[in-house]
Amino acid sequence: MSHNTPDGLTGLALTPDTFHLRCAINGESIERDVAVDRSLLSFLRDDLGLTGTKGSCLEGECGSCTVLIDGVPVNSCITLAAQVNGRQVVTIEGLSRDDKLAILQEKFLEAGAVQCGYCTPGLILAATALLQENPEITEEQLIKGVEANICRCTGYSSIVEALRNAHREMHS
Ligand code: FES
Ligand code: FES
Repeated sequence: MSHNTPDGLTGLALTPDTFHLRCAINGESIERDVAVDRSLLSFLRDDLGLTGTKGSCLEGECGSCTVLIDGVPVNSCITLAAQVNGRQVVTIEGLSRDDKLAILQEKFLEAGAVQCGYCTPGLILAATALLQENPEITEEQLIKGVEANICRCTGYSSIVEALRNAHREMHS
């Protein structure tokens, strides 16, 4: 199961090749001209320098490039930058507040759930979306809910531990 892709373009192309994009990234309004075929992943990493979002399979299968668009986890490698026109995008850089990590980030570190780290931002954002959407979610639903995010390093046990610990802290 892979994450969603947003609906079609909602703005107007400036030329056949460029698009004037207005959106919010991690709460900050931005306006940029982007190529109509630029992926959101490339836009975030290469144009905005938000390299926390990782690309791996680049075909919508692994979840490492997950970002939140209006709170919904989306694979940014198969999403056009132009498709986030008028929307709110959150990347892993947008989760910490005043240099304080979010609970999920803390628990991933504590559990040793980060090895190469390629899957980590996507996993944390997918879990964040689940917790925001349903604050009463159970531990098992939370763990099941991130199954679209593949990890090649950890064997998942430390990731499951991190998710359980974050869930317990949020619901204690
Ligand atoms: S890099 Fe986007 S789903 Fe794998
Ligand atoms: S820590 Fe390497 S892919 Fe998950």
